[in-house]
Amino acid sequence: MKSPIRIFSILLLFCANLAASPYIELGPMLGHVGEDTASIWFKATGTATPSIVIGQRDDLSDGVSHPSAVLTPSNEFMGSITITDLAAESRYVYAVALDGRVITPRPFPTFTTASRLGSAGHLRIAFSSCLGGKGVDAAAAWAQMDASSDADLVLLLGDNHYADTTARDGQTSAYFSNRSSPGFRAIGSHLPIYGIWDDHDYGPNDSDGSADGKERSLETFKQFWPNPAYGEVENPGIYYKFTRGEVEFFMLDVRYHRSPDKMIDDGTKTMLGAGQLAWLKDNLKASKAKIKIIASGSEWQRHSHADSWSSYPRERDAFFDFLKEGEITGILLISGDRHFTGGYQIGGEFIEVTAGPLGARNFPTKNLPEMFFNKSEGKLYAVFDIDTTGGTPKVSVEAHRPGDGIVHNQELPWAAILGQQQLETLPIETTPEKAPYQISFDPENGISKPPSETPPNAAKEE
Ligand SMILES: [Fe+2]
Repeated sequence: MKSPIRIFSILLLFCANLAASPYIELGPMLGHVGEDTASIWFKATGTATPSIVIGQRDDLSDGVSHPSAVLTPSNEFMGSITITDLAAESRYVYAVALDGRVITPRPFPTFTTASRLGSAGHLRIAFSSCLGGKGVDAAAAWAQMDASSDADLVLLLGDNHYADTTARDGQTSAYFSNRSSPGFRAIGSHLPIYGIWDDHDYGPNDSDGSADGKERSLETFKQFWPNPAYGEVENPGIYYKFTRGEVEFFMLDVRYHRSPDKMIDDGTKTMLGAGQLAWLKDNLKASKAKIKIIASGSEWQRHSHADSWSSYPRERDAFFDFLKEGEITGILLISGDRHFTGGYQIGGEFIEVTAGPLGARNFPTKNLPEMFFNKSEGKLYAVFDIDTTGGTPKVSVEAHRPGDGIVHNQELPWAAILGQQQLETLPIETTPEKAPYQISFDPENGISKPPSETPPNAAKEE
C-alpha cells in the first residue's frame, strides 16, 4: 500500500507535468481556404510537435492527423499547417494537437472550403484596415463581425498593427497583442482571414521600398499570415491572388517596391514595381472571374492624401487605361489606411470602397469628390454582398459599425461597376483645395511637380 506522502508526491508530479505541457495561446487562425486546401496558423506556449486533426464528424472520430515541424523558441513557438486534397464546398471539423494530444476544446471549430472557380453562388466579403495599437482596440469590432456580419471570409488591408518598425521584436509583439482579442480568435477559427500590409505593419510611417530591414519584415509577415503566396520566386513581396466561385481577388503589396511618395516622377516612379505590375496585368487578362477585387493598402481615388495613389497618378492612370483598353470588366477596388469608410466612383468609372478603422481612432473626412458614401465615426468595416446565381451579378456594399450594426447598405448596379452608370455622389461640403499632391507628369520633359503642401483631410498617423 502506498503511503499518503507518496500519493501526494505522485499527484504533485502529475500536476507539474500538466502545467509544463504546452498549450495553444493564440489561434488557431484560418488563412487561405481554397477549393481543396486550408492553412491554419497557431502559437503554442512551448516546444512541441504540432498537428492538425481534421475530419467531417463533429467529434472528429474520423479525424486524420497532419503533423508539422516542431515549434521552437526560435520561431516563438508559431507555426502553420497547410492541408491539401480537401473537397470543394465542404464542411470540415478540425483541432490542433501538440505532441499528439488534442488541445483545442470542444465543440471543435469548423470551416467550409471555397466553391469551384466559375461556379455561381452567394459570397459575403468583410474587409477593413487599421486595427489599432493593441488587441483590445478592435475587440468590439471582431466580436460584432463574428456575431453578425455573416461573412464568408475576411480581408485585412494593412495597418494590421502599428509597430512602425521593421524590427522583428516590435512586429511580433504587436501581432501577438492583436491576435489575443477573443473576438478575433473566435472568428479566425472558422473564417479564412487574409492580410496585406500597409506602412505601419511594414515599417515606419509612410515607408516605402527604401526601408531598412524590409527583408526582415517580409520574413516576419510570412510567419504570421498563411496566405496562398508571397510575391513571386523572382520578385519578393507579399502580393498574391486566389478565387472563390466567380470572384477573383488580387491582393497587392504597395510598400516593398514603392518609390518614395515625394519622389519627382521621371517616368520610373512606381507604387507596385515593374514585376508586380506585370503580374497583375497578366493575371487580370487571364482571369475568368466575373468579378475581380483588387486590394491596395493605399487609396486609389484621386482626392486622397500624399501617401496614396494620388502621388502616383501616371502609374494608376495607365493601369486604368489598361483595364479599359483590354475590356477587363467587373472591377471592384478596395483599400484601407484612411480611418473612415467610404465609397467612390473614380472618374465615374471605377468603384472603390475604402474600409476602416477596425480598431484605431477615426480621422473623419468631409465628403470628397466622387464619393457616394462616407462614414467617419466609430470602428468600421465593410462587406461586399455578391450574388452571381442570376446571371448578371448582384452586388451591394454595407458599412458595419460595432454598437450600431449596418449603418450603410447600397446596391452597386452592375452597369455602375462596368462604368456605364454614374452613381449619385455626396454633396461637397466645402470646395476642395487645389490638390497639390496630384503630381502632374509631363512626358515631354519628364518633369513632375512634387507635393508642396499638406492636402485636405490629410492625417499624419494613418
Ligand atoms: Fe492606419
